[in-house]
Amino acid sequence: MEFTGLKEKTLVIIKPDAIQRGLVGTITQRFENKGLKLAGMKMMRLGDEILKEHYAHIADKPFFPGVSSFMQSTPVLVMCWEGLDVVETVRRITGITKAREAEAGSIRGDFAMSVACNVIHASDSVDTAKSEVSRFFADEDIHDYDKTEYMHVYIEEERE
Ligand code: PPS
Repeated sequence: MEFTGLKEKTLVIIKPDAIQRGLVGTITQRFENKGLKLAGMKMMRLGDEILKEHYAHIADKPFFPGVSSFMQSTPVLVMCWEGLDVVETVRRITGITKAREAEAGSIRGDFAMSVACNVIHASDSVDTAKSEVSRFFADEDIHDYDKTEYMHVYIEEERE
């Protein structure tokens, strides 16, 4: 999978609080409105093993068991978004982890109050995105297609 230029990819997980609150369409719309390309999307139930791997950096924190059971409380939606500098762009649209302090206009800033029920997860670097996309998606579940709208989203040199 390519992770450069227009083909840069990132992983977003729509978390159980957003599923329960009916925010799937609203959140997805934010990314579509921005001009990002949807390369993959599926609904899945996460288990202990994948959550331990995905949250390895917090696995020894006292709050990890709570995060794990919250993330297993409903199925989640995993999405792969594509675009120029998409990892950084999606992090900016997402807002900071502690949602009640997230900037107004960001997804967390507009829709969440909690550090854990913060509606979405987004990869925090290009390297993390590479491993997270391949953790949740098989190569054949990431789709390559021409997005005709791109000629109105980017100038020519950005598309090269
Ligand atoms: S981030 O977004 O990955 O940079 O955030 P980080 O601070 O590294 O936190 C990683 C995930 O842990 C969750 N988290 C918490 N849950 C419960 N209690 C506390 N105190 C807490 N602090 C962090 C947070 O929701 C992050 O989940 P993701 O899915 O990465 O956003």
